[in-house]
Amino acid sequence: MPSIGDQRTLSIEEFRTIRDFIHEKAGMYFGDNKLYLIQSRLTKRMDQLGVATYRDYFYRVKYDTSQREFHELMNLVTTNETYYFRNEPQLDAFATAVLPEIIENKRKGRGPKTLRIWSAGCSTGEEPYTLGILVKQALKGEAGWNVEIIANDISEKALHRARAGEYEGATLRYVNPVVLKDYFDKEGDAFRIKREIKSLVKFVQLNLNETRKLSMYKNLDVIFCRNVMIYFSDEVKRKIVRAFYQSLANGGQMLIGHSETLHGISKAFKLKYYKGALVYMKEEGVTDRAGHATESSKSATSTPGSAPRRAPVRASSGGASKALELLAKIKAKQDAQRTLAGKIGG
Ligand SMILES: C[S@@+](CC[C@H](N)C(=O)[O-])C[C@H]1O[C@@H](n2cnc3c(N)ncnc32)[C@H](O)[C@@H]1O
Repeated sequence: MPSIGDQRTLSIEEFRTIRDFIHEKAGMYFGDNKLYLIQSRLTKRMDQLGVATYRDYFYRVKYDTSQREFHELMNLVTTNETYYFRNEPQLDAFATAVLPEIIENKRKGRGPKTLRIWSAGCSTGEEPYTLGILVKQALKGEAGWNVEIIANDISEKALHRARAGEYEGATLRYVNPVVLKDYFDKEGDAFRIKREIKSLVKFVQLNLNETRKLSMYKNLDVIFCRNVMIYFSDEVKRKIVRAFYQSLANGGQMLIGHSETLHGISKAFKLKYYKGALVYMKEEGVTDRAGHATESSKSATSTPGSAPRRAPVRASSGGASKALELLAKIKAKQDAQRTLAGKIGG
């Protein structure tokens, strides 16, 4: 076996063993074209540890009862790209249609004025803090609301940065200057998220593939799981989406990544169409539609801008064909991405 300092090469068999282990544990699936990516990430870690072979490293991860090295591996293989106000059309739909509707229903109802939002796969915190800002703006200081934003990720390294709440550079590029001034404290070149937003968000390390644990989250009004399931196999997506469905309150809504779709994954949700955004809803009064979906849809008008004041994005009639059109576009984009990834091989 090669030793440290040698030109080490991860064999396809070793790669597949590690890849299958990651898939089984964390749901992420790496095609054979990701061999070199995994090799380069593991090699650095093995050098740090003084581990000579991929096989030794694999055993170290697999048989470490403390799970410490498994968490290190997750830090290495996850893609944590994120930024504030990511995907403006979706956030417009959330801020001007989804959220006001939920708030209005709760105002009218007799239940507690609680808003429960879940950012599943929150990476370094930009998504849940963005949602916190939008909720603050929507509530306009109205008293009596209890807001909980649950944010989790498998990567402890990402969560560490999320909890610090300090940002600079490109991640802030879509933050409106007024929002930056109102919700961040400037410290040198960095911007620290203000306590009034930070206190809304609770970060918890969680592996979404451990779906038993997801059942501790109940009565969610909104779930954001964006750009996370894209790394999972369909089998894992189905399992997790089923768990999300169970975690949503009746009437609860889910937003996934712009280039993702639940086509072939779940028919349990009612599909709502907004301009540039699809929202998946667990219908009021329907306890379990799993496998019997009607994907109804609505069209909408939108206004651009992650500015503090947003014009409402409305759902309106006649959108079924538009929704299908959007789904087809998403599917075509995914196919193109897969082909490209295959060609690049990395
Ligand atoms: C590309 S980031 C997306 C962040 C954010 N949702 C957004 O759209 O900007 C994907 C995140 O999913 C996390 N992730 C991947 N597999 C996961 C799993 N099994 N459980 C929890 N988080 C996971 C990664 O660590 C990463 O931070």
